[in-house]
Amino acid sequence: MNYNFKIYKNKRVLITGHTGFKGTWLSLWLHSIGAEVMGVSLGVPTVPSSYNIIKLNKIITSKYVDILNYKKLEKIILDFKPDFIFHLAAQPIVMESYKNPILTFNTNIIGTLNILNIIKNINYKISLILITSDKVYENKEIKRGYKEIDMLGGFDPYSASKSMTEFGIRSYIKSFLENKKNIKVGIARAGNVIGGGDWSKNRIVPDLMRSLKTKKLLVIRHPYATRPWQHVLEPLSGYLILGQKLNNNHHLSGEAFNFGPKYKNIITVEELIKKFSIYSNSIKININKKISREFHESTLLSLNCHKAKKILNWEPILNINKTVKLTFDWYNEYFYGNKSLMQEKMQLQIKDFINLKKVNEKK
Ligand SMILES: NC(=O)c1ccc[n+]([C@@H]2O[C@H](COP(=O)([O-])OP(=O)(O)OC[C@H]3O[C@@H](n4cnc5c(N)ncnc54)[C@H](O)[C@@H]3O)[C@@H](O)[C@H]2O)c1
Repeated sequence: MNYNFKIYKNKRVLITGHTGFKGTWLSLWLHSIGAEVMGVSLGVPTVPSSYNIIKLNKIITSKYVDILNYKKLEKIILDFKPDFIFHLAAQPIVMESYKNPILTFNTNIIGTLNILNIIKNINYKISLILITSDKVYENKEIKRGYKEIDMLGGFDPYSASKSMTEFGIRSYIKSFLENKKNIKVGIARAGNVIGGGDWSKNRIVPDLMRSLKTKKLLVIRHPYATRPWQHVLEPLSGYLILGQKLNNNHHLSGEAFNFGPKYKNIITVEELIKKFSIYSNSIKININKKISREFHESTLLSLNCHKAKKILNWEPILNINKTVKLTFDWYNEYFYGNKSLMQEKMQLQIKDFINLKKVNEKK
């Protein structure tokens, strides 16, 4: 597999959710490959945000539009004529989905279907990579990793919205796109993603980093929940490979792929925090194990990624220690280093990651 992703050079790539955690990394990566990137987002979701920190708006085109605004979204897509669309925009937080279920269902389901409805009549070659989640599966708290053929059916509103999105995607493919060889759709299900530049509330790494900086008490809701922790660049490399393969293989259209970490990266929230504490210059992490029974969250969740390995030749390369180290380094540089060099820092992390992939390939 060629991790230079030359296929994206000089291509028009639309990224929804480009101001978010994953969207910022993906936009920067595609920009550095030489793609003409346009981002569509509601706004900048957090303060601070990696999008603002690296001044991404200066190097790519940004449109601040609600994906629920069909007319505006349609105009952007039809005017820009993207070769690829990476759809990441969503309301992605489980806790928030309990507070705002209708907004979550609307944004995640209708937002995705709006894009599909707009592109279904396009007559040039276009590939869509739609990002759902590892939480689409009906969680049976089983030990083995979920396979793509397993039953869908998320429990909480966020997870359910992503499962329902997949039913909508399937319906659009079956009803409108099956015979259109120029339009290809891939679905990406990734696990819990960590990495530098995430500032969302109610996610463990940003919460931990904030409490390290401010020395405030860290409240953990589910210390014993296991999660498939992976560095953000792992699933993003999977999305890029999926886009690359889709571009030339219509038979891959409609397929869903899991992008999860190495098996040993599946550890509990508490174990993850202990790994971070190794790098935290002996700052004491105060943990308040206030286990929340108010909101349901699954405790056991892992992904089987054999399909991505077999068909896309994708596999994760970072172990949990390297994942934590890369993540910690980002925040450490931001808090105590030169903030104006964060774009270079991120580009360096992407470069190192690609080199690691190449070394891994040769083994
Ligand atoms: N971060 C994770 O651990 C994780 C895990 C599994 C799946 N995902 C999925 O990956 C995608 C990106 O996640 P993230 O962590 O980068 O999220 P994020 O919260 O950092 O970013 C969300 C982005 O979506 C945009 N957005 C939200 N509502 C919008 C609307 N109505 N119109 C236009 N833009 C809108 C925001 O402006 C922002 O750019 C989401 O689809 C999420 O569900 C994330």
